[in-house]
Amino acid sequence: MSDQQHEHLAKTGFETRAIHAGYDPDPTTGAVIPPIYATSTYKQDGVGGLRGGYEYSRSANPTRTALEGNLAALEEGERGFAFASGLAAEDTLVRSTTAPGDHVVIPDDAYGGTFRLFDKVEKVWGVDHTPVALSDVDAVRAAIRPGQTKLVWVETPTNPMLTIADIEALAAVAHDAGARLVVDNTFASPYLQQPLTLGADAVVHSTTKYCGGHSDVVGGAVVVRDLDLAERVAFHQNAMGAVAGPFDAWLTLRGLRTLALRMERHSDNAEKVVEFLTSHEAVTHVYYPGLESHPGHDVASRQMRRYGGMVSFRVAGGEQQALAVCEGTSVFTLGESLGGVESLIEHPGRMTHASVAGTDLEVPADLVRLSVGIETADDLVADLERALG
Ligand SMILES: Cc1ncc(COP(=O)(O)O)c(C=O)c1O
Repeated sequence: MSDQQHEHLAKTGFETRAIHAGYDPDPTTGAVIPPIYATSTYKQDGVGGLRGGYEYSRSANPTRTALEGNLAALEEGERGFAFASGLAAEDTLVRSTTAPGDHVVIPDDAYGGTFRLFDKVEKVWGVDHTPVALSDVDAVRAAIRPGQTKLVWVETPTNPMLTIADIEALAAVAHDAGARLVVDNTFASPYLQQPLTLGADAVVHSTTKYCGGHSDVVGGAVVVRDLDLAERVAFHQNAMGAVAGPFDAWLTLRGLRTLALRMERHSDNAEKVVEFLTSHEAVTHVYYPGLESHPGHDVASRQMRRYGGMVSFRVAGGEQQALAVCEGTSVFTLGESLGGVESLIEHPGRMTHASVAGTDLEVPADLVRLSVGIETADDLVADLERALG
């Protein structure tokens, strides 16, 4: 594609970029879909003469390059990086932006594995953290240690309590203190929210979730705008080596092409499920940023296109009923993870968030989390009705 064509593509709509960005049909065959380059190394045009920049597949692989270009276009960033998992992406970003002795502000509600990474890995390496309620901008400002805090780490909506953080406000607070703002955009996906356009310095994804969208691949991503930061991440991606393999990159790219359609349907179905749950007598609280009663509703309406497919709720019968509901559905599958076309149900306290028990991030025992899929909405509602008895 010529530079002019690239420039034109950058100005097109989300769906167009999702389908076309990152890859030009193969010059030899015209293949419309990027081949899975199952190669570890590349024939060089003489010593030091790399063909198109490829020398070894940890450093770069054409299938991964296609995915990375696509992710950058969807997040409206300059460069994307694809990793073996979301946690690999997070660890690489943390080490690209901090050094032992530094400090990070983290959410007081977040994916349990992210907390475990900060608490059991980065802390041992010498990077300390403070959990804070990110919906409270003043509390974030107060938790920043001037000169020592290098990152403010945001999840919005959070996993599993669906709280909302104001990305624009937090970017200003972080930047005032000379820190960077990172947004884990896994729950929203780039279709619903583009944090770099709101002032964030980096976006991370577990592409395992909505980006991949079919529960058939584990992966992660980092997207940035600043080219110096991009160079640091590129260096660490290669030096640490937790890259996405070519088949995984290909599956994730295939998922991204339909992200817009899927997110619309996830949001439609979640709204119907929320409507049902809010009127059910056994349900004591529903967490969904699309609800007008949600404390983050106004901020979510400003920074998100719609509210997504994740819904959490609490039940009157305590932990026992929460466990019974999780084990009582048949269309919702009992399982960890989220963001696939199929609906999933889980008990965060005993499953995805077991690692935060006894910490500031502990989740309520009567909480159930749903990843609402794209099946027939009436079937999802009927399934929950049966399980709630
Ligand atoms: C919000 C969020 N971020 C990051 C991760 C970690 O991603 P992965 O499981 O791909 O390592 C997860 C996994 O569930 C997640 O939900």
